[in-house]
Amino acid sequence: MEKLWAGLSSGKVSEIADDFNSSIKFDKRLYKEDITGSIAHAQMLNKCGIITDAEADTLVNGLSLVLNDIETGALKIDDRAEDIHTFVEETLTERVGAVGKKLHTARSRNDQVALDFRLYILKETQAILAAIKTLVKAIADKAEEYKDAVCAGYTHLQRAQPITFGHHLLAYAFMLIRDYERFNDAVKRVSVSPIGSCALAGTTYNTDRAFEAAALGLSRVCENSIDGVSDRDFVAEFISCCALLQTHLSRFAEEIILWTSWEFKFVSLSDEFTTGSSIMPQKRNSDMAELVRGKTGRVFGDLTGILTVLKGLPLAYNKDMQEDKELAFDAADTVKACLAVFAPMVATMTAHRENMKAAAQKGFINATDLADYLTKKGEPFRSAYKICGEIVGYCIKNGKTLETLSLDEYHSFSGLFESDLYKAIDIENCVNKRVSEGGTSVASVEKQISTVNDFLHKI
Ligand code: ARG
Repeated sequence: MEKLWAGLSSGKVSEIADDFNSSIKFDKRLYKEDITGSIAHAQMLNKCGIITDAEADTLVNGLSLVLNDIETGALKIDDRAEDIHTFVEETLTERVGAVGKKLHTARSRNDQVALDFRLYILKETQAILAAIKTLVKAIADKAEEYKDAVCAGYTHLQRAQPITFGHHLLAYAFMLIRDYERFNDAVKRVSVSPIGSCALAGTTYNTDRAFEAAALGLSRVCENSIDGVSDRDFVAEFISCCALLQTHLSRFAEEIILWTSWEFKFVSLSDEFTTGSSIMPQKRNSDMAELVRGKTGRVFGDLTGILTVLKGLPLAYNKDMQEDKELAFDAADTVKACLAVFAPMVATMTAHRENMKAAAQKGFINATDLADYLTKKGEPFRSAYKICGEIVGYCIKNGKTLETLSLDEYHSFSGLFESDLYKAIDIENCVNKRVSEGGTSVASVEKQISTVNDFLHKI
């Protein structure tokens, strides 16, 4: 096959070089964006009087047919082509004749690939936004189901204070809402048209870049043609949004793995989202959650990859930039796959109220409430804290809990204790007294659930 750029050179490169240089095997997935971009380009050339109406019709119809034939499978993308741009242009020219060679007027593959990739990232962003929304909804529904399920809250993985399971789950809903906002905010930086930057310096033709951008649904054109073909910030930003989202999914996955272990048994996943062991009949493994945690590493790798590809590049286009594709494809595919499995996994999981409550009743989780009780009776918090620490030490030594200590025993630590202390340290009471905004009481959790649901309705 003659090279698109045969002219000065023979266009004959070694097979090894050809294979090494070619990107068709992975950039073929940009066929739709490439053809959509080319249709808008032909329309712009026509509008600006650079090609005739008849030529534009031929190009637009020809491109639409190429798209249709790829989608129906009638046209196979030839893996021997250099890249998807070359393949589409050559196929078009074979089909419509010499007019096909006019399509590349006032355009270069440098601005063409930047455009295609922006359209692709926009499409993937929309798919990810929808998938995040589905997961947030699943979490909000689970939080509603368990808004009053008392459970141990942890710091340093040590039992810290009693919380509700719904409250804990909602923390993830809010992380994911931030992820949603981050992806959504990036759209305004992706939705910028580089087309018309040409190779790097713009063009001598009297083109209409704004018309072409609008035809593609993009918000505006880039201001600087050198930046237009050199900028891959939108790729790095997209992958970095993916990486942070994966961080959140991975933390959640890690907790699910812990919670489903026999050491915790706070949660069981449905059979549909667990696997068994080939040798140990008793096992239910949380493979999906483990894979989400594991796949996070790939996305971090994609982020490191794109930043590293870009960091030493002189302006403007360099072939290094072809390396951006597989990184973004991998990040998008991974994030979509993780979100797709996570939402139904959460929606079908069951929490074990008794086990969670039992955990909340151990570990002197209400010691802060005991200190608050003394403080409210007039003891300064710092000394109340110390007295309660001594009481916990006494309980540990004597095999007692705060609930089973007698009032006489309490009096040996402070005369401020009265019989109402038992109510103050009752676990359910400890939870429901935490009415501060964002806190763990059922009322507060209900408010948080409506905030999440309001967000979901708004988007
Ligand atoms: N396959 C190339 C890429 O993905 C397309 C742009 C080629 N431009 C060039 N000047 N060789 O970056």
